[in-house]
Amino acid sequence: MNTTSQIKKIGVLTSGGDSPGMNAAIRAVVRTGTELNLSVYGIRRGYQGMVNGEIEPLETSSVANILQRGGTILKAGRCLEFLNAPTRAKAVEEIKKHDIDGIVCIGGDGSFRGALDLWKEHQLPIVGVPGTIDNDIAGTDLTIGFDTAINTALEAIDRIRDTAASHNRLFIVEVMGRDSGFIATAVGLAGGAEEIFIPENPVSVDQAIQRIQRGMARGKTSSILIAAEGRKPGRAYDLAESIRKKSGFEAKVCVLGHVQRGGSPTAVDRILASRLGSASVHALCQGLSGIMVGQQNNQVVYEPLVDCLSKKKQIGQNLLDLTNTLAK
Ligand code: F6P
Repeated sequence: MNTTSQIKKIGVLTSGGDSPGMNAAIRAVVRTGTELNLSVYGIRRGYQGMVNGEIEPLETSSVANILQRGGTILKAGRCLEFLNAPTRAKAVEEIKKHDIDGIVCIGGDGSFRGALDLWKEHQLPIVGVPGTIDNDIAGTDLTIGFDTAINTALEAIDRIRDTAASHNRLFIVEVMGRDSGFIATAVGLAGGAEEIFIPENPVSVDQAIQRIQRGMARGKTSSILIAAEGRKPGRAYDLAESIRKKSGFEAKVCVLGHVQRGGSPTAVDRILASRLGSASVHALCQGLSGIMVGQQNNQVVYEPLVDCLSKKKQIGQNLLDLTNTLAK
């Protein structure tokens, strides 16, 4: 395929918040590209590095021993300037200076918006690989980093349950996810939470109090509520205060924060990242652009970026219902 392809040099960047498994995806891009006789360049610090021309060649050996490492060797970042068309034009100039004719962008929805603009405005061949712990990208069942993040959060929740049970306490554990509740829903079910607060399916404080009271009536002495951070990290403190004012229950708060973003990726994330990273290079060589490579029903799929960004991925109501059924 490489001999007939127009693509000879590709660039890869990791953008937005880092997620465990990004290194595995970079490795897959570099090694698949090398296998197809392409030159592969690493773009450092996301779109900011593209604008500044922070671009360097990557060899097979550059990505040795990174498969198991969290974070990203290329570094990541959010580049607000990239919202401006002249900044994007400058980035494209830098890409052209290096004769790069295809880009793999590993990141979340903000990064994909930038990718879509580059493709539409400059016809720059670009393929997205979903890398975010939030799992909030439509068109893929999983995003790289989500599985590791939920396992990290779950380990913390299990530990909190030990101490909650020993002291007959109520805890509110806040998990990441920004506007989305995928992490909260997954760890709520897997961690046996009594209630899950997510933006997509708001539960009132009164409902949560009633659930705690019903549990107490059955002899339950401790409870764990999971709160998705929403727009404002730290909202678990506000929830705790509302619960105290309305019921007198004192809740301990634990905000898990960035611990969820780090650490060695799970096998699920390494396999996903390897598959999608490799598929992104094949997609560019086939002349595909303005798309995301994702995974649906364990198959690699190509989805238009515009759809990934315009559609809203649905939280599994069945998971929320099951959590409620089982939280006795
Ligand atoms: O999008 C990934 C994420 O970890 C969100 O869950 C979280 O809200 C956000 O990034 C935090 O971003 P930052 O590290 O820039 O504060």
